Amino acid sequence: MPEEQPRAFPADFLWGSATAAYQIEGAAAEGGRTPSIWDTFSRTPGKVFEGHTGDVACDHYHRWRDDLDLMAELGLAAYRFSVSWTRVQPTGRGPAVQRGLDFYRELADGLLERGITPALTLYHWDLPQELEDAGGWPVRETAERFAEYAGLVGEALGDRVPLWTTLNEPFCSAFLGYGSGVHAPGRTEPESVLRAAHHLNLGHGLAVRTLRSVLPADARIGVTLNPGVVRARTDAAEDRDAARRIDALQTRIFTGPLLHGSYPADLREDTAGVSDWSFVRDGDEAVIRQPIDFLGVNYYNPVEVAAPVPGAAGPRDDGHGSSAHSPWVGSEGVEFTPLPGGRTAMGWPIDATGLTDVLLRFSREVPDLPLYVTENGAAFDDTVDAQGAVHDPERVAYLRGHLGAVLDAVEQGADVRGYFVWSLLDNFEWAYGYGKRFGVVHVDFETLRRTPKSSARWYAELVRSGVLPGSG
Ligand code: FCB
Repeated sequence: MPEEQPRAFPADFLWGSATAAYQIEGAAAEGGRTPSIWDTFSRTPGKVFEGHTGDVACDHYHRWRDDLDLMAELGLAAYRFSVSWTRVQPTGRGPAVQRGLDFYRELADGLLERGITPALTLYHWDLPQELEDAGGWPVRETAERFAEYAGLVGEALGDRVPLWTTLNEPFCSAFLGYGSGVHAPGRTEPESVLRAAHHLNLGHGLAVRTLRSVLPADARIGVTLNPGVVRARTDAAEDRDAARRIDALQTRIFTGPLLHGSYPADLREDTAGVSDWSFVRDGDEAVIRQPIDFLGVNYYNPVEVAAPVPGAAGPRDDGHGSSAHSPWVGSEGVEFTPLPGGRTAMGWPIDATGLTDVLLRFSREVPDLPLYVTENGAAFDDTVDAQGAVHDPERVAYLRGHLGAVLDAVEQGADVRGYFVWSLLDNFEWAYGYGKRFGVVHVDFETLRRTPKSSARWYAELVRSGVLPGSG
């Protein structure tokens, strides 16, 4: 292996860690919080590994001060967290619950006191159950409710949070929540996938409009996507077409209207057998295309696809859980071919080049839009040794490789402003429950004790120096 030289990040690069409310907070029934779709889903037998729920999770709701101290000790400059909608607005309608808002105001204040920039996500998948009972994201009204909720949070926290994100990975909400059903609410209805995607987009647009009217002028507002890095197995036209189809479903269904003001024609054609798209009303696409201040990119791995095999039902395991239902509506037969090389404990292939590719893609597609890596990280089967330490060299290698990939993109002109490691803490990994550990800090789910892994120390040193260490 050639020896690698140390490489410096831009001086003002923002270094952080990320979490999400349902994955860490616990206190599911405290402070007036009511069930979200994830409370319901995790209680549904067979949906989550060993019946795990977010009832206690990392108990961050009670231990947040210690968690903030830990971030400060690691020298992190920013923290990306999400607000639990039902803590703030239990039914998804009507006035806010003051106690809920106070929790996040105190959290933001605690971050600012420690010199950590709060980066708030409004929606990380935990729709109020009452809104799901009224139809969920496939129903237009949910978009309006989301904008109203955004306004409540904006009014309460606008004076102390500089970075705002509307949605986290709307792909997962729509395609896994309503298509493959491996995420809450667990529905498997092809047309609902497209309707949900549209109403998530619309909710984003309406929420940005509302936020602009309540936030200070210098607040920065964006959205976080998990764009696909989709590679064709061969250069054959059929394989390239399979890649185009999956890219339309995973990425352009969002970036089309969000960044360019319309749904791609090829996406509408590919899905013509699923829906006539009459749920898109005149003017919706213009509402969705609100000017935004940054794009958040979450990246874990690329995929490789090939032309449909006649009669095949599509993937049974899309990396987030297994299902007999394909999320890839209208393109169910596309074959996902395994990539060679190393894998994480999720079974996800390790390939950092996809992160460079996705950052360069958006730097070319929307050259003036700053980018943040809002999530990147890896699960491994970490264990605590006899000395009480957690050594996770595989995670360090993963992070080193992916941060090198970020620098590759920066050096080729991508305007990447920051990086948030997923995740600060081991947490409730959705359908995998507590069975998969993504944290740079280990959590013992019996005692809730936090132990920084060697990756946390490695990351802290990187944050301190701003230099990716060389090898050799
Ligand atoms: C992303 C989610 C995040 C976490 C990571 C591993 O899709 O946004 O909550 O589960 O994957």
